[in-house]
Amino acid sequence: MRIDILTIFPEMFDGPFSHSIIKRAKEKDLVEIHLHNIRDYSTDKHRRVDNYPFGGGAGMVMMIDPILRCIEELKKKNEYDEVIFLTPDGKRFEQTAANKLSTMKNIILLCGHYKGIDERLREQVITREISIGDYVLSGGELAAAVVTDSIVRLLPGVLGDETSALSDSFQDGLLSPPVYTRPADYKGWKVPDILLSGHDRKIAEWRHEKAVERTQKRRPDLLK
Ligand code: ADE
Repeated sequence: MRIDILTIFPEMFDGPFSHSIIKRAKEKDLVEIHLHNIRDYSTDKHRRVDNYPFGGGAGMVMMIDPILRCIEELKKKNEYDEVIFLTPDGKRFEQTAANKLSTMKNIILLCGHYKGIDERLREQVITREISIGDYVLSGGELAAAVVTDSIVRLLPGVLGDETSALSDSFQDGLLSPPVYTRPADYKGWKVPDILLSGHDRKIAEWRHEKAVERTQKRRPDLLK
């Protein structure tokens, strides 16, 4: 899979993309992530990418031209399944969307800033708008990193244990059951006996029961 990210702060991705799962996925060539500085596509001598909003008001708006030039450049070389804009007024991001995006070949993620991007880009070029939650970040970069992480870990071969993404919370519409590791008795805090029983079917039943219980208690909305 190939992910192209358009941003005015490419350095913001250095941390999230240089460690752990994403780092490994890149090394194994399971994903290519390309960062593009939108300023590089500005024709303005000050590399300007924003301007005042028509009609007045506070805040700046990201201009069409640098963003579109970057997207058109990319589209000359690759075919894209989606051009995605990260924005707090987009559709709330959930596991089902992560699953869907992880089956795609090439996607573009556009990070917004200031008051947003010129609406005509949203009408003409953007195919999907994603919000990672009902709060406002200072830009789309952290949201793009979140979305990228959630996609990359689902790509075949990325996670060591092939089943572990399937047992994530939300994959079956339930939260994950509690987990424990050694020691079985930590200063009197004991692990449930069933997990030490070696009885696989009973353990699976117990885990399912606990997953349902936890979902009922913490996220009843998921059971509807
Ligand atoms: N940009 C700013 N806030 C955001 C959010 N909550 N989700 C996606 N992109 C954003």
